[in-house]
Amino acid sequence: MTNMTRRSLLLSAAALGMGTLASCTTIGKSGGTPNEGGRSAGNGGRFGVGDYNTQEVADELRYIEENIGHLPKSDAKRILITGSTGGLGQLTAAYLLARGHSVVGHARNDRRAADVQRDLPGLEAVVTGDLSNLDETRRLATRINELGAFDVIIYNAGEYGVANAEILNVNSLSPYLLTSLVDAPQQSIYLTSDLHLGGDLKLGELRTGGTDVTYDDSKVQILTLAMAVARRRPKLRVNAVAPGWVPTMMGFANGPYAPDDLRAGYMTQVWLAEGSEPASRGSGGFFFHREPEDDVHPSVRDTRAQDDLLDAYARRTEVTLR
Ligand SMILES: NC(=O)c1ccc[n+]([C@@H]2O[C@H](COP(=O)([O-])OP(=O)(O)OC[C@H]3O[C@@H](n4cnc5c(N)ncnc54)[C@H](OP(=O)(O)O)[C@@H]3O)[C@@H](O)[C@H]2O)c1
Repeated sequence: MTNMTRRSLLLSAAALGMGTLASCTTIGKSGGTPNEGGRSAGNGGRFGVGDYNTQEVADELRYIEENIGHLPKSDAKRILITGSTGGLGQLTAAYLLARGHSVVGHARNDRRAADVQRDLPGLEAVVTGDLSNLDETRRLATRINELGAFDVIIYNAGEYGVANAEILNVNSLSPYLLTSLVDAPQQSIYLTSDLHLGGDLKLGELRTGGTDVTYDDSKVQILTLAMAVARRRPKLRVNAVAPGWVPTMMGFANGPYAPDDLRAGYMTQVWLAEGSEPASRGSGGFFFHREPEDDVHPSVRDTRAQDDLLDAYARRTEVTLR
């Protein structure tokens, strides 16, 4: 599928989906009381099929378990992945673990932490914090710092099809807070989406305490954040990835159809984290399936827009990025 076809599909799906999602139940979001949040490992077994993972993700987790081997010990890194209890985050964690890296997972609560510890028993640790609650995100930053330095942090956690206030906190304000409050790793990787092309920075909403930030808006915000951090921290490596429309629970939010390759959807994060090729060792890049992606929203590379976004985030959260 060409990039153009892929994008047209994504954008038309978004146009169809965003209007109806508020009244839809996302497939498989069966677990948990409103207080607990998240999805539970009900009848889906070890990899939570139908509860927090699709069959495709579970099959890929088994593929990783059976086929991926260790790198030499000297190449091992210490890596934290937010939202590693399902989907792309769990696949990235599983692959990096199988390669012999030390991986710290992240779950929204203790129940989901227990799920991922059962699914991926090799994890060094799992930190918890619900990213829809910014006080929890601040406490999460403290816990991460208590664990000591990381080589890589992957800002993967994301929500789609929930209220805009939650989208804003999980997809945008929490990654900003963690970036600002956690001791900076050698490398940071931010998950965005092609759908960012239809979004807007919504600086007014951020500045005035508003919450009218759609999924697409949140993804142009996080991509612009990544490029701003790359510019502000020139000695560190900071990149962003659009994984494609892939068959995770999020990918199936509008029905069981996702055209892109699941493995390619997490291998760019692995490739960047390992830095095994010269092309994966730069900073300020935006990648789709390991290739630089040139089709970006105009705000993303606009240094003034980047600074305006950082300023709006700082006003909103009272935390300034250093
Ligand atoms: N799938 C696609 O087609 C697609 C396309 C473009 C971009 N992306 C991006 O790729 C990233 C991963 O998406 P995915 O497809 O793997 O989605 P997914 O299967 O729904 O997994 C999302 C992960 O984020 C976690 N999470 C969500 N809300 C959270 C919260 N409030 N606090 C803590 N953790 C939370 C989830 O935890 P629970 O398991 O507890 O819910 C889960 O671990 C996201 O940033 C997404 O926007 C995905």
